[in-house]
Amino acid sequence: MTANLAAILYLIAGVCFIMALRGLSSPGTARRGNLFGVIGMVVAVGTTLAQPGVDDYLWILIGLGVGGIIGTVIALKIPMTAMPQLMAGFHSLVGLAAVLVAGAALLSPEVFHIGAVGDIRFISRIEMSIGVIIGALTFTGSLVAFAKLQELVSGAPLVFPGQHLFNLLVAVAIVALAVIFCVDQSPTVFWIMTALALAFGVLMIVPIGGADMPVVISMLNSYSGWAAAGIGFTLENTVLIIVGALVGSSGAILSYIMCKAMNRSFVSVILGGFGGGGEMAELTGDKTVRPGSADDAAFIMKNASSVIIVPGYGLAVAQAQHAVREMADMLKAEGVEVRYAVHPVAGRMPGHMNVLLAEANVPYEDVFELDDINSDLPNTDVAFVVGANDVTNPLAKTDPQSPIAGMPILDVERAKTVLFVKRSLSPGYAGIDNPVFYNQNTMMLFGDAKKMAEEIVKAI
Ligand code: TAP
Repeated sequence: MTANLAAILYLIAGVCFIMALRGLSSPGTARRGNLFGVIGMVVAVGTTLAQPGVDDYLWILIGLGVGGIIGTVIALKIPMTAMPQLMAGFHSLVGLAAVLVAGAALLSPEVFHIGAVGDIRFISRIEMSIGVIIGALTFTGSLVAFAKLQELVSGAPLVFPGQHLFNLLVAVAIVALAVIFCVDQSPTVFWIMTALALAFGVLMIVPIGGADMPVVISMLNSYSGWAAAGIGFTLENTVLIIVGALVGSSGAILSYIMCKAMNRSFVSVILGGFGGGGEMAELTGDKTVRPGSADDAAFIMKNASSVIIVPGYGLAVAQAQHAVREMADMLKAEGVEVRYAVHPVAGRMPGHMNVLLAEANVPYEDVFELDDINSDLPNTDVAFVVGANDVTNPLAKTDPQSPIAGMPILDVERAKTVLFVKRSLSPGYAGIDNPVFYNQNTMMLFGDAKKMAEEIVKAI
């Protein structure tokens, strides 16, 4: 294949990836977006394999076979609720790949056409340093995020005195070593720099508290993109640079959106330990709950004129989206106005609730973002909170020590009646009690979200 043809095909692949991102930005076009991604990837991989430098396909085919089988098994087996940790796991692999490619380039620069041992091109030394640093911290940072999300380790922030200063010193040392490596190409300096970057990935993620994990996931997503772009420079592969830059910048935009949703400054999350330092106020006052049944809920909602459904992580766990939609359809048939309020960090990954509601064919025009529906809650008869918790917790507004302090929440308690579906009084992801459980206008519907929605359907 000529270099010109390869460049054109890479360009086509790049355009496909842009179309993929465009499509994935809305549930209605997501399937098409995914298809563009697949086409782009086939063109990119096919073009790379047809390069003149590739003359032995055996190991490539073995790699494709093993990777393909592992990927297929994971895709078929993984539950929707485990997606965030899967993403973290995959990000770690991108980071590891960047470290390995940079390491290989250091050991055999002639294979990469970037010079010889001890005489690597200056620009390549810069690329390798950036690639290995971002790759190493993405690798270990993603592993820590995986362990936290999989609950292999506690999700609580791990903080120690002088942490920020210590992290800053490590960061400065890494940059200094990168400069030294670019000047003298010392392999020892390269490997110390890599080790420090690996440690920095851990240091960066351990102090981040549970409720701030959405920002971490999107941030690591961004880093994995930049790591891939780094590999692209070392391998002089245009499409990898394009894809890496697309993932890196879209991940950065997502991090910004997540920070806005959590009302956090990006820097405060990166510096870590947000909300983990102080003593949380214990809930005081009357802690009586008012439990109800599916029959009670059906009666209240049938006689309401408006209902806002607030889905959360428990909806995903119970796979209750179809039953909830059926319930909504029946209420609509009774003349009740039914809408869905989606909090930006509801569930465990960006867009989690939108994906589930789309899967259940909930009409897009019934689904509203927090900012567009929050002011309607005081004029609403019933807020039906199903498997959500933190995203409705008013402590975010009243307790500055709370891990979710400052996060905008859905003001469900301002509706005339709140129906709260969950299995117990256990806290949500942030680990804090929710005063809405004990409000006079709240009825707790204890049970699995899917079962409860099905029973309400029967009762209606
Ligand atoms: P959570 O606050 O985590 O609450 C979910 C609730 O669902 C739990 O209190 C649980 O109570 C209930 N539940 C679990 N299984 C259930 C089932 N089968 N049936 C009925 N209820 C069930 O969820 P949320 O309100 O969606 O908030 C999301 C939280 O996750 C936020 O703190 C957010 O920061 C964090 N987070 C979000 C993301 C992204 S990107 N969205 C990523 C990581 C972390 P019971 O055990 O009593 O049933």
